[in-house]
Amino acid sequence: MSTGGRKGKACQSNMGPLNRVIANSVPFMPKSLIGRVGRRYAAGEELEDAVRVVEGLSKEGCLATVGMLGEHAPDERHTRGKLDEYRQALDALEKQGFKGYRVAVKLTDLGLTLDRELCRKNLEEILLHARQRARFLEVDMEESPFVSDTLDMVLDMHERHGNTGAVVQAYLRRTLEDVQRLVEARIPVRLVKGVYVESREVAYRDYDIIRENYVLLLEELLRGGIYVGIATHDEYLTWHALRLIHRMGLTKDQYEFQMIMGVQEELRRILVEAGHRVRVTVLFGKDWYEYSLRRLKENPKIAGYVTRDVLGSLAQFAGPRSAFEGWPRRI
Ligand code: FDA
Repeated sequence: MSTGGRKGKACQSNMGPLNRVIANSVPFMPKSLIGRVGRRYAAGEELEDAVRVVEGLSKEGCLATVGMLGEHAPDERHTRGKLDEYRQALDALEKQGFKGYRVAVKLTDLGLTLDRELCRKNLEEILLHARQRARFLEVDMEESPFVSDTLDMVLDMHERHGNTGAVVQAYLRRTLEDVQRLVEARIPVRLVKGVYVESREVAYRDYDIIRENYVLLLEELLRGGIYVGIATHDEYLTWHALRLIHRMGLTKDQYEFQMIMGVQEELRRILVEAGHRVRVTVLFGKDWYEYSLRRLKENPKIAGYVTRDVLGSLAQFAGPRSAFEGWPRRI
């Protein structure tokens, strides 16, 4: 498969000089500037902000998955707080009667780095709360040291309760094997490129290889009869997905496209208008500062995307305003 002349586009690990400057200066940036990242990728600080955004999306014909900002819980108390917040989120979304909404969690936010058993119990509690409402719980995939635990836990929960699915990252060398296991378990899968910076031992770093692996994995999943969340903003991959869907004669209830709020909105509209199911991830929460810092420091590409935004709006940036002026975000 040719990747359409994109050779030389940034590898996973390449950092342009401007991105490098931004990533290195993150700790010294004013909070208000960091807030622009949070504002770009999150609905707001409160659950009501997320509900408002989901409402807008549903009017546009999109489905939504609501997730909370935050990862790497510092202690058990924090995870108990998160459980309450997830229950409230499920209750609020249910009350609004939104069709096909889902909730997403990160296992490190539920205590995976503290105590595996605590994390498993927390996950099961949210899962059961979701199941009582006939809702599906997505479990995000995090850095490579957590992949095995996450897949084991998700597969176990899927076997016992049903209403959950796995996420796999196309940049990981192990994923083809994982996909075979997931196909055997007949579990729904979200396929992503992968957002964390990983070593060459565990992950492909070349942009073209990651794309080719994405297409290979997608084909394995679809041919295995798995319901796939095709999570990408890369139109090259979207085209490949459409090609496979066409060739395999799949119907529109056998897959869905997934995107992140605020990214590639035009492509999103094109897919909705063509009658495809499109799901948008809507994040909210108070941990926007820590979340944004991590994203900026970890992934130079995000620094690049945000640079464009920040430079574009720097002219309007006037002194010590609230970082979240203009929130809650509306679609
Ligand atoms: P690529 O990065 O090449 O982006 C294609 C184009 O989309 C870019 O050129 C740019 O225009 C635009 N774009 C992409 N990302 C952007 C951004 N952040 N801001 C602005 N513009 C952007 N990862 C992970 O490791 N675990 C997970 O659980 C998830 N979950 C997840 C859910 C959903 C719904 C999506 C869409 C993505 C994830 N990801 C993820 C992130 C994923 O791994 C990947 O890092 C991003 O989707 C970017 O890769 P693309 O496939 O979009 O291609």
